Amino acid sequence: MAEDFRLYGDDFNQDAIEQWFREEAQYHNQFSGGRFEDHPKLYQVFDWYYALLPYFHPRPDMRVLDFGCAEGQALAHLPAERRTYSYVGVDASRSLLERAARVHPEGEYRLMPADGIIPAKDGEFDYVVVLGVLHHVPNVAHYLKELFRVLGPGGRLILREPSHAMGRIPGSHTTLPGLSPNERGIPAHYLQSQLKELGMRVLSLRPAYHGVVLQVLRHWQPRSDQAWRVLVSIDKVLSDATRWNDHYQRPQIWQKLAPTANYVVAAK
Ligand SMILES: C[S@@+](CC[C@H](N)C(=O)[O-])C[C@H]1O[C@@H](n2cnc3c(N)ncnc32)[C@H](O)[C@@H]1O
Repeated sequence: MAEDFRLYGDDFNQDAIEQWFREEAQYHNQFSGGRFEDHPKLYQVFDWYYALLPYFHPRPDMRVLDFGCAEGQALAHLPAERRTYSYVGVDASRSLLERAARVHPEGEYRLMPADGIIPAKDGEFDYVVVLGVLHHVPNVAHYLKELFRVLGPGGRLILREPSHAMGRIPGSHTTLPGLSPNERGIPAHYLQSQLKELGMRVLSLRPAYHGVVLQVLRHWQPRSDQAWRVLVSIDKVLSDATRWNDHYQRPQIWQKLAPTANYVVAAK
């Protein structure tokens, strides 16, 4: 597992962590009012069928943390009956949070500090939803511990993270087109082992976003909800059938015939 620590930055010193944090926050600050406002249909539909419909059932008296909430768009598309809970959004980008507070004033928003301590009390939340965020942080194990800390007993953690290197050489800070300065995937086995170490029960770990499905979507977008549902079903079949092919580095074409992300749901 020594390589995992190098890849996921859990041995970064405090200066390197803070530099990474600032670079990522600066990158995301550019997008206030635009990039995140229109939550891509792909994420809306996949988040819904893979994770939210089966595992996200907050009652009105429950508290939900949307960690790395950006403009609050990911949960804003839920049917109204699923949006009756108290919502807290935390993000490292001040401008995205300002925008979130304007667009979704019913929520409460808190800025994530560079010291990596989530501004929340122990056990404050019944659900912690983290969609596409941990691959932007250097010290993933530390963040998982923090997310665990703020989750109450019996609470659920819902994660979506890409699983592959995204073309980045480990340790390199070269910015690649379309990516933030530091982002890189987190393999399922790493997430699973860290959650188990925290004493969490993994309820579901599903590979998703198959490379072939993503290629198809570059040229064709489903027009109806039914067509999206069919696409998710195809993605589930392809991703399950090729989960053995989930390599971190994918230089060969055959290695791209694999899922590119995972949904993980765990209970405290
Ligand atoms: C790819 S976006 C995902 C946004 C949203 N969760 C969604 O699914 O649409 C990643 C978000 O993570 C935030 N982020 C990056 N590093 C963070 C950190 N250390 N703490 C909290 N949020 C962070 C970014 O500012 C950005 O809003």
